[in-house]
Amino acid sequence: MRVIIEKDYQAMSKKAALLVASQVRLKPSSVLGLATGSTPLGMYDELIEMYEDDEIDFSQVKTFNLDEYCNLSPENPQSYHYYMQNNFFKHINISPENTHLLNGMTDDVKKECKSYDRKIKRSGGIDLQVLGIGPNGHIGFNEPGKKLNVRTHEVELAEETIEANSRFFDTKDEVPRRAITVGIATILKSRRILLLASGRNKAKAIRETISGYVSTQVPASLLQTHPEVTVIIDEEAADLI
Ligand code: PGA
Repeated sequence: MRVIIEKDYQAMSKKAALLVASQVRLKPSSVLGLATGSTPLGMYDELIEMYEDDEIDFSQVKTFNLDEYCNLSPENPQSYHYYMQNNFFKHINISPENTHLLNGMTDDVKKECKSYDRKIKRSGGIDLQVLGIGPNGHIGFNEPGKKLNVRTHEVELAEETIEANSRFFDTKDEVPRRAITVGIATILKSRRILLLASGRNKAKAIRETISGYVSTQVPASLLQTHPEVTVIIDEEAADLI
């Protein structure tokens, strides 16, 4: 694991955007695995700016998002479909047919999961997977547990995740209890992985991810088994390492 500590959120975002941009320049038809949440927002803003300055071209890029809540329509402002559209896709020259998100409204979750894994495989696999991390060490919605499902699957969100994500909803009761997420194997099959974290509330998870035991109780610690992981964090998230 390569760990890069930047001064603050803005510097972390800039560094992350440069890494994504260099991937896309190197391979214009890159397949990117993308994340939602507060953490990558600054990185998306930087990438949009680079696009506006003609420094990056997304016309051949394909994307696969990590996860989506169950039973939130794409028009719901809390859905990850809405997030991606409004915070990134609509500002760049990516073709809508090249962007992929899990359908949390499906009646047949198993079929949706299988078909998503198949689409990733057919696209040639993820070249660069961007990840945030939950305060409990989750990546995507792979929550800590005695065992982890390796493929794309439906999950029950952990109480800490519901608590953490309630800031985006009017009340905690509105946070969906279930979601679909790509599994750990799908993440670990990516050629390169970029993990981002900012803020003191991520410091413990970052310490356990970088230097703790590899354990399904801290899903991000499994990244230690991958040969090409770059961790970019700000000073607050690095507080315990
Ligand atoms: P955050 O979420 O970026 O909103 O902190 C990260 C995550 O839960 O994976």
